[in-house]
Amino acid sequence: MNLNGTISGKTRLLGLIGNPVEHTVSPQLHNTLASATNIDVAYVPFHVEKEKLEAAVKGLMAVNVLGFNVTVPYKKDIIKYLDECSKEALLMGSVNTVKNIDGRFYGYNTDAEGFSKSFKHETGTGFKGKQVFIIGAGGAARAISVKIAKEGAGKIYIANRTPSKALEIADMVNENVSSVAEHLDISDARTSKVFSSSGIIINTTTVGMYPNMDVSPIEASFVFSKEQIVYDVIYNPKKTRLLTIAEEKGCTVVNGIGMLFYQGVSAFEIWTGIKLQEPFLSDFYNSFKKVL
Ligand code: ATR
Repeated sequence: MNLNGTISGKTRLLGLIGNPVEHTVSPQLHNTLASATNIDVAYVPFHVEKEKLEAAVKGLMAVNVLGFNVTVPYKKDIIKYLDECSKEALLMGSVNTVKNIDGRFYGYNTDAEGFSKSFKHETGTGFKGKQVFIIGAGGAARAISVKIAKEGAGKIYIANRTPSKALEIADMVNENVSSVAEHLDISDARTSKVFSSSGIIINTTTVGMYPNMDVSPIEASFVFSKEQIVYDVIYNPKKTRLLTIAEEKGCTVVNGIGMLFYQGVSAFEIWTGIKLQEPFLSDFYNSFKKVL
């Protein structure tokens, strides 16, 4: 690695805080974007221990970073150390992007934006009036539920192993965005019928992720139809067991690589104020897919 000639006294720092961060691909994404757009920034990941989170945020402000990403497990905890957050990020209870604006840290959530952009890019369609079935009720499910409710989904079913968590998200969406959400117990007999009648299926759980790749988040008895779009937020492996089964049934399947890519693009746009254009974006996306 040779950084001579790329970093100067004027270079602004971008970072990532999380634990762990050692396998992140975000530096490749952002540093490539920086050189492609000729913007003088450098992106570095920082492994931060839980008890050092506040000190890390203060330190990043002290050295006047341009901004930073936040990853697991701090997307919720970070909120209390920020000066302000977007209304959407507060509803989602999750911040993955922070920008330093005149010495104040502002929090945003670009995960859900990344999900929505990649869904549209890969399928050529959106959520307006659609019946969506979300598997899981963690942070990703919460952010995606808010986003697709805002984008006019007709009905959102949130099915989880722990139904109370799905109920909590459904109530929040119904109260704050629109009355379209309902919770389900993933093991309830009715749930498989709702699954089959939903046009869009989204897995937000980690079930099927490397290294436990032989499992699916739904029962083998669930019936797919070839009209369904099945989106898995997992990108390692590129084809989870869920997507393999869905593809065999003729469904359109999409993995989480696009979500990862577009959340980064949205973060880069927030930090730099530029809007990345086509065909650059699609070309860059295609080369990013090959790197993963
Ligand atoms: P994230 O914030 O990335 O969405 P999370 O908060 O850990 O991750 O949420 C993971 C979701 O996957 C949860 O809804 C979890 O179910 P519970 O609410 O019942 O814990 C779900 N999940 C994780 N492992 C699971 C498994 N083996 N079977 C079914 N659901 C699982």
